[in-house]
Amino acid sequence: MITPPLFFNEVKARVFKGPWFSGMDFLLISDPLDVQYILSKNFSNYPKGAEFKQIFEPLGDGIFNSDSDTWRAQRRIIHSLFKKKRFELAVEISLKQKILQGFDPNSLSVEFPQIPYQKAFDDFEEGVIYRHALPASIWKLLRWLQIGKEKKFKTAWIVFDEFLEQCIARKQKEVGQSCKEQMEGKDFNLLTYFLAEDEGLAQEAAESGILTKSNKFLRDMAFNLLAAGKDSVGAALVWIFWVVATHPDVEQKILEEIKANLGAETGEQWRVFSIEEVRKLVYLHAVICEVLRLYPPVPFEHKVSIEEDTLPSGHKVPRNMRILFSLYSMEG
Ligand code: HEM
Repeated sequence: MITPPLFFNEVKARVFKGPWFSGMDFLLISDPLDVQYILSKNFSNYPKGAEFKQIFEPLGDGIFNSDSDTWRAQRRIIHSLFKKKRFELAVEISLKQKILQGFDPNSLSVEFPQIPYQKAFDDFEEGVIYRHALPASIWKLLRWLQIGKEKKFKTAWIVFDEFLEQCIARKQKEVGQSCKEQMEGKDFNLLTYFLAEDEGLAQEAAESGILTKSNKFLRDMAFNLLAAGKDSVGAALVWIFWVVATHPDVEQKILEEIKANLGAETGEQWRVFSIEEVRKLVYLHAVICEVLRLYPPVPFEHKVSIEEDTLPSGHKVPRNMRILFSLYSMEG
């Protein structure tokens, strides 16, 4: 049996007091009913808040850094992208080519090359952690002085922006030359979707007033989706392989399911399954879900209360309180 990691498991809801005047008090919750209440039932009372946006500054106005109407509009736009058959095909092609932005850095090659924009992304994430750990007045002072972690953060931001600019400029040129081919061809990626004419997207954009072809929108969208999908998928894969490697019975069942459903010999040494094929693998799906439950790649989330409230567990929440919940240590 696989036991979940223990972290704040005994804590239901507890207020942590930061140093005086640091503005770092927060409420830590771990009751699934409280979390569901915040994420769903009383969602409108718990935005990410202004401080979140300051900490995650380089994410601009992208979905991760948005609340209310802008958040809702971007969520609709991203959903419409994910629902496209064309997107599924692009995922398949990308898996084969190991690319997301129309560019393969070969980061999985055995030499483990250091790729500047990847290092920049790691530095950005490190900077965000520091901003969470320090009082806002301190990190803002360091930012103003451009020293320490804040200097590293700024440099990383510039390097990553240059990388995104190049990806966007290249795709703008390609789409400008052959829009139809780009939408239908193997070079489709998420930037193609926003740059090329798509009826569904055009309607969403018109309704929300978002300029989906502007450089700012493309840059923020690309950065946010990379931030959403990069380390979450990386961490999930590591845990999945670890669990499978340490549970031979599970590995055996996965292999049997693959053979039973997709076993046709093709004579190829390597074969990437299509999305339709992968849908048949229900046991594998269950394994992935269980690993995500036991080892959630996004360990923490935080929100801020607008009005005072009472959580289902009975805990009182004052106005403007930072709330932190650990997906790693849900009770239940
Ligand atoms: C195993 C992989 C992943 C895990 C565990 C994961 C987990 C999460 C979690 C916990 C949230 C916050 C949900 C909430 O607060 O309501 C989230 C939001 C989100 N994720 Fe993922 N994610 C993964 C992969 C991806 C990928 C590959 C993408 C896209 C490329 C993506 C795009 C998003 C977006 C756009 C949001 C919405 C942010 C928002 O509403 O503010 N995620 N994800």
